Amino acid sequence: NSQSNQFCEAGIGYSEAGCGISSSTKLLIKGGTVVNAHHQEVADVYVEDGIIFAVKPNLKVGDDVKVIDATGKFVMPGGIDPHTHLAMEFMGTESVDDFFSGQAAALAGGTTMHIDFVIPVNGSLIAGLEAYEEKAKKSCMDYGFHMAITKFDDIVSRDMEIVVKEKGINSFKFFLAYKGALMVNDELLLEGLKRCKSLGALAMVHAENGDAVFEGQKRMIQLGITGPEGHALSRPPVLEGEATARAIRLAGFVNTPLYVVHVMSIDAMEEIAKARKSGQRVVGEPVVSGLVLDDSGLWDSDFATASKYVMSPPIRASGHGKALQGALSNGVLQLVGTDHCAFNSTQKAFGIDDFRKIPNGVNGIEERMHLVWDTMVESGQISITDFVRVTSTECARIFNIYPRKGAIIAGSDADIIILNPNSSFEINARSHHSRTDTNVYEGRRGKGKIEVTIAGGRVVWENNEVKVVPGSGKYIETPPYNYLFSGIDKADASYLSSLNAPVKRSESTTSSGRHS
Ligand code: URP
Ligand code: ZN
Ligand code: ZN
Ligand code: ZN
Repeated sequence: NSQSNQFCEAGIGYSEAGCGISSSTKLLIKGGTVVNAHHQEVADVYVEDGIIFAVKPNLKVGDDVKVIDATGKFVMPGGIDPHTHLAMEFMGTESVDDFFSGQAAALAGGTTMHIDFVIPVNGSLIAGLEAYEEKAKKSCMDYGFHMAITKFDDIVSRDMEIVVKEKGINSFKFFLAYKGALMVNDELLLEGLKRCKSLGALAMVHAENGDAVFEGQKRMIQLGITGPEGHALSRPPVLEGEATARAIRLAGFVNTPLYVVHVMSIDAMEEIAKARKSGQRVVGEPVVSGLVLDDSGLWDSDFATASKYVMSPPIRASGHGKALQGALSNGVLQLVGTDHCAFNSTQKAFGIDDFRKIPNGVNGIEERMHLVWDTMVESGQISITDFVRVTSTECARIFNIYPRKGAIIAGSDADIIILNPNSSFEINARSHHSRTDTNVYEGRRGKGKIEVTIAGGRVVWENNEVKVVPGSGKYIETPPYNYLFSGIDKADASYLSSLNAPVKRSESTTSSGRHS
């Protein structure tokens, strides 16, 4: 395959001989501790034709089966990254990892599926989807799509239905930031929330007040602050808290579930906590950069270093990350994404004289699993079963593809990782698999190492080598009406009957006869 050979020559550490693609369709993972979101046990896992066939202790198999010894290691569902931007056209450029390099990096880090955001073309959902279908042809792992909504009219409304009913997309993202580009106003958000509800699709928000961010940016430029630190200073946590609160209240008003992407601050997290406590269906997604980094890098005197940390909402002062970790461990936040949107140092340098021109985005698709393990499990903040839940299972449930994904049980797709808790990882731009030339986690080390990744029943990461074929990844359709929608109709019915009561009372005490 000439396409794969092309990649072999360009890549580092990719195996040769037609990429050494594993042809074995039968695998036995022996003696590991199999971990699902609610249970773990020592068992063997038998895989055939890309599907998990059996999970049981002491399975006996023929000698045509490749056996992988997992004694003393954890055998877990492959990670699912709910939030990526591969080959995204954004801020005058395009993110450097495409559906091949980004996915190869993901697989090297134990992530076997991701959900990327389709961006409409001039507001057209269908044109946007066609463009992303084209980009995704080179995929080497399974993927799904969310779709952004950037304008609203009868055509968009109709296309939302087509996309949900015919194209397998069950989630729409509304950007409350990026004024003049992707941003939507409250009127559009309300229309979008209503339409999402009528289709059983999940509304997602990028929650920052874009008008206030615009004001904050002008303020920084007037003060002569043009460097990367101006990015953080121009869009403080209060603007994230405001937009999160507003989106939550509007979703509550419409009575439809809401998913808040990249929760970066205590301010936003506390709004989610409050809403969940009152029974509202709100999901909060921290991203790994927000959990483990702080804003100090943005003040680095070296522009290339400081600019690599520019993403939105910004990476916050220390204290926010620790609070987000706590919220993840106590269930206020439910699943971890990356917002992987990698730009290289040449692209970041577009903003050398003006932070507003630095393309927003950081890497993470390869690092997420290791960093969540080290930061959350090794530190004792969450259990190993919780690790599976927040990196894989909860994402599969929310996007309605569980238990095909997110589980190691008979019948599930064979997307599996083997993690050695006694080994260690180290992150640097020299050895990572992303195409970008920097890494926001440069130099980080930690405990726990994903030694094997199996995607669709094929060993794609083993002995520190990625072995993948462009075009082998499948599009995973995500059906509407996930579990967050159950009971929504009953809540609507009781709301309507609560409106009826005062109307009846007024009819008996006035002669208006409005409701004859
Ligand atoms: O800085 C970021 N987050 N870039 C990607 C686009 C988005 O807002 O998710
Ligand atoms: Zn190769
Ligand atoms: Zn965003
Ligand atoms: Zn994003």
